[in-house]
Amino acid sequence: MLARTENPAFEGFSAERGRAFYFAPRVIIGLGEANCASCHLDDPTQAIRAHRAKVLCRACHVIDESEHPDPDHAKKRHLGAFSPAVNPERFRDFDRVERHFEVNCRMVLQRACTAIEKGDLITWLITLR
Ligand code: HEC
Ligand code: HEC
Repeated sequence: MLARTENPAFEGFSAERGRAFYFAPRVIIGLGEANCASCHLDDPTQAIRAHRAKVLCRACHVIDESEHPDPDHAKKRHLGAFSPAVNPERFRDFDRVERHFEVNCRMVLQRACTAIEKGDLITWLITLR
């Protein structure tokens, strides 16, 4: 419904667009080129172990707490896979999801993500095996 308000021509979410969105090159100010995969992995069905996975250090080590969606729980040794296809904890807690979208989209895109971008992304993530 929200997606249709944004774009009256909306015809449903697209996994293909979601994948393209996830990998599209962006710039994190002060850090350089990055995308969602920089912290959530090229293969979001994989879990992350600290210092074993190729993710930005900033995913767990933050200088300024405002740049992290959840500074109280920033430093973790293990982050579950990003895809809800393999990690049932993902995209379940609406407030948490929105908070993380808010911080990460601002950091990576310098703006909020649209409802269509979020829907496309989740549509792609649930197709992964
Ligand atoms: C600098 C690292 C970084 C980048 C880049 C990044 N994220 Fe995240 N993201 C995190 C961290 C850290 C968490 C919290 C830990 C976790 O849940 O894995 C998180 C969690 C999330 C969550 C919460 C999902 C849930 O239900 O648990 C969403 C949604 C999210 N990110 C979306 C995005 C999107 C969309 C992009 C690309 C535009 C992106 N992130 C790029 C670091 C990042
Ligand atoms: C998945 C989360 C995660 C990522 C990503 C990560 N770390 Fe860590 N790192 C940790 C945790 C957890 C500790 C242990 C900190 C503690 O015990 O307080 C740690 C500790 C360290 C320490 C030892 C000093 C200290 O604070 O205890 C260094 C140095 C370090 N990390 C560097 C890096 C660098 C460089 C990168 C990027 C290449 C990186 N880390 C990426 C989670 C991570």
